[in-house]
Amino acid sequence: MGFQNRVPKLQGLNAALHGRGCLKLRRLVWNRQVLIAVVLVYAIIFLTFSRWSRWTLPLPYFSNLAPSPSPPRRMTNNPPVSPLPERVPCFGPRGQFLSRSPDDDVREAKLNISYPMPFTGSYEALGLDQSWISYRDRYAPYGYGEDDEGYNRTRVDWDRIDWGKLQNECFDRNAHRFPTEAKPFDNMVDAHRLDFRNRTMIPEIRQWHDFNSTRRTAVVLRVWRGYEYKVEDMHYIRSLIVETALRTGGEYQVILLVDMKEYDRHIYDSTDTYQEALRNSSVPPELRSIAILWDDRLLENWYPAVNEHRTMWQVYQPMQLLALHYPEFDHMWQFELDIRFTGDAGKYLDRMGDFARNEPRKQALERATFQHMQQRIGSYQNFSAAVNASNNGSAYLWGPLRIPDLLPIGPEPPTLSPADDDFRWGVGEEADVIVTSLCNNASAAMSWIFRDWLFGFSDGLDTTRFFCPPAITRTSRTLLLAVHQAQVQFGMTVPSEATPPSFAVWHGLKLSFPQQPVFFENPTDDEYMDGWWKGGPANSSTGVGPDLLAHPRGYGLSFWWETLWPRLLYDAWEGREIPEDVPFPWILAKDGNGTAYMPNMMMHPVKHHD
Ligand SMILES: *[C@@H]1O[C@H](CO)[C@@H](O)[C@H](O)[C@H]1NC(C)=O
Ligand SMILES: *[C@@H]1O[C@H](CO)[C@@H](O)[C@H](O)[C@H]1NC(C)=O
Ligand SMILES: *[C@@H]1O[C@H](CO)[C@@H](O)[C@H](O)[C@H]1NC(C)=O
Ligand SMILES: *[C@@H]1O[C@H](CO)[C@@H](O)[C@H](O)[C@H]1NC(C)=O
Ligand SMILES: *[C@@H]1O[C@H](CO)[C@@H](O)[C@H](O)[C@H]1NC(C)=O
Ligand SMILES: *[C@@H]1O[C@H](CO)[C@@H](O)[C@H](O)[C@H]1NC(C)=O
Ligand SMILES: *[C@@H]1O[C@H](CO)[C@@H](O)[C@H](O)[C@H]1NC(C)=O
Ligand SMILES: *[C@@H]1O[C@H](CO)[C@@H](O)[C@H](O)[C@H]1NC(C)=O
Ligand SMILES: *[C@@H]1O[C@H](CO)[C@@H](O)[C@H](O)[C@H]1NC(C)=O
Ligand SMILES: *[C@@H]1O[C@H](CO)[C@@H](O)[C@H](O)[C@H]1NC(C)=O
Ligand SMILES: *[C@@H]1O[C@H](CO)[C@@H](O)[C@H](O)[C@H]1NC(C)=O
Repeated sequence: MGFQNRVPKLQGLNAALHGRGCLKLRRLVWNRQVLIAVVLVYAIIFLTFSRWSRWTLPLPYFSNLAPSPSPPRRMTNNPPVSPLPERVPCFGPRGQFLSRSPDDDVREAKLNISYPMPFTGSYEALGLDQSWISYRDRYAPYGYGEDDEGYNRTRVDWDRIDWGKLQNECFDRNAHRFPTEAKPFDNMVDAHRLDFRNRTMIPEIRQWHDFNSTRRTAVVLRVWRGYEYKVEDMHYIRSLIVETALRTGGEYQVILLVDMKEYDRHIYDSTDTYQEALRNSSVPPELRSIAILWDDRLLENWYPAVNEHRTMWQVYQPMQLLALHYPEFDHMWQFELDIRFTGDAGKYLDRMGDFARNEPRKQALERATFQHMQQRIGSYQNFSAAVNASNNGSAYLWGPLRIPDLLPIGPEPPTLSPADDDFRWGVGEEADVIVTSLCNNASAAMSWIFRDWLFGFSDGLDTTRFFCPPAITRTSRTLLLAVHQAQVQFGMTVPSEATPPSFAVWHGLKLSFPQQPVFFENPTDDEYMDGWWKGGPANSSTGVGPDLLAHPRGYGLSFWWETLWPRLLYDAWEGREIPEDVPFPWILAKDGNGTAYMPNMMMHPVKHHD
């Protein structure tokens, strides 16, 4: 019996309970099977004695004749997570320990020039290195320039590299550092763990308390069948694997998540069909052992209660299924092939995670709705103080933000009022969602094309929700499993960019926006900066984002969903020709030989050249 079949019954039930009279109620009970009657009795007892006042509230719990109408288990406030033991070095693609293989090293440059000031965000607040690097020194370890005579590093036969094996060897060498629940990624043994709901051996719903922490994070690279992997892509992917997985002693695991777009055969029928699909997926040989395949049928099969499965609206659905089937990861970063880290990607992600872990929960959402601009407000401390002031020392969000449709799993705040907490709560706690850009009140975002797109909420468009574009986030297993449950059982759906932040806020899970450095193409355009700043936190009547929502277009930013500048930056850095009427990007430095050096940052989007 599908979800849709149950909806009319529920509406009948709802109407009956809302007092269209005993008559109707009685008719209902007599007309339906015993099951419905049981549900009714249950519902009446539940509604009468539960502490929730809204009729609509517990109904979803009956819609699937759920095993138990009891509220979900809530978390408690745990002590701060302890640091992992020291990292054990791993072998790189050249068969050497990375700790003593200069050919595998990226070589940062020491330039005696002042570092460019970011448009938003800060190096200091995140503890990011203010390093410079040339394109060659960044990517030569991963094959850039290997066909040139002057290439003075050991050459690698990339087709013979197995990135799955290298990552697992690295994890094995480091296994003692992790909790016993941490497991190597068994993709080579059991490639098709993802499967249809009617065939899978795993529970349809899993909860946060079904798992203990493994301290491992998956870096999920989203790609699709037919994608043409250019050398530039390969350099990027290899750098990501070496720097996140291998240089951190297995704290990260890079996975290629492949959308089998328009592949008409059934991929999950057998090991053979899966392997055949993998060969048809355009994934290069060196990456096959880290690839996981999915298709639309899988999403439709798992989420019949949701009427949209396309990536543009529901980019997290495959991630939810990954969390369900691969619970050995505490967190998952979602990336695509159009991101670039100009410095060590592992260190960058470490710093994002550190910042998020150390951030207090108090006003974390509020801080995420304003941009930290050093040129307008100075240090991050100044910025935080301004957000605190605009909230009068209190906070909009304190614990779960209650909506009628779900019961929160996050912990209770330690104090009744946020004003009584001295920015202690949540310090040392891993964030359930790390966003990479500013968050906004979705109800108020008139120019956001997805604003009115949501399903399965009893308050409809009045449901409080937030979105933080682009959908590049680190999301916890806990949060992804909660979204999964809401979609499977109740069809609750908000657009991609709103999914992790909104569910985190409703559940009372920790959200963090480490304000990473983002540059703008014209550093002297004050008007442009004012257009985004809007007077800052001091000019906000709510303390939750500026009152004014409109801002300039983000075309010239180094990280923004619609920007064009990163590709130009990348070209100028690599030494490709850039249009004559465009000035050489100000954030790059050039040495006497004309070599360009790039500051350390994360760029998006950089689409490969055809
Ligand atoms: C860096 O440059 C400044 C002047 O621009 C100079 O005074 C200083 O000695 C230089 N430092 C080094 C280490 O070269
Ligand atoms: C390799 O060449 C680069 C410049 O192309 C140079 O900076 C580096 O020192 C060279 N390394 C060795 C070991 O010769
Ligand atoms: C989590 O770890 C605790 C302590 O080792 C153990 O008692 C519990 O059974 C574990 N829970 C799960 C779901 O593995
Ligand atoms: C890939 O699959 C399609 C069918 O979906 C088929 O037409 C094509 O020949 C296959 N290509 C390879 C290389 O197997
Ligand atoms: C499972 O679901 C898939 C997709 O809806 C369907 O094609 C298949 O026949 C089902 N298998 C069984 C055993 O019901
Ligand atoms: C930042 O805060 C410090 C200490 O409170 C203060 O001295 C400084 O003027 C502030 N900077 C700006 C730009 O507001
Ligand atoms: C903070 O206090 C000021 C002055 O009393 C008030 O105007 C403002 O609305 C308050 N801000 C919040 C978020 O409550
Ligand atoms: C936050 O604001 C309140 C009220 O203005 C103030 O008493 C408190 O000292 C501030 N805390 C911080 C850390 O700035
Ligand atoms: C979000 O926007 C809506 C619509 O403008 C408004 O009613 C609501 O108060 C806002 N929420 C916050 C937290 O600012
Ligand atoms: C402060 O916000 C108001 C909207 O409430 C806006 O009109 C004004 O321009 C903002 N001030 C600055 C300095 O941006
Ligand atoms: C230019 O390149 C030469 C040869 O690689 C090197 O010796 C020299 O130090 C470089 N000059 C600068 C300013 O980097």
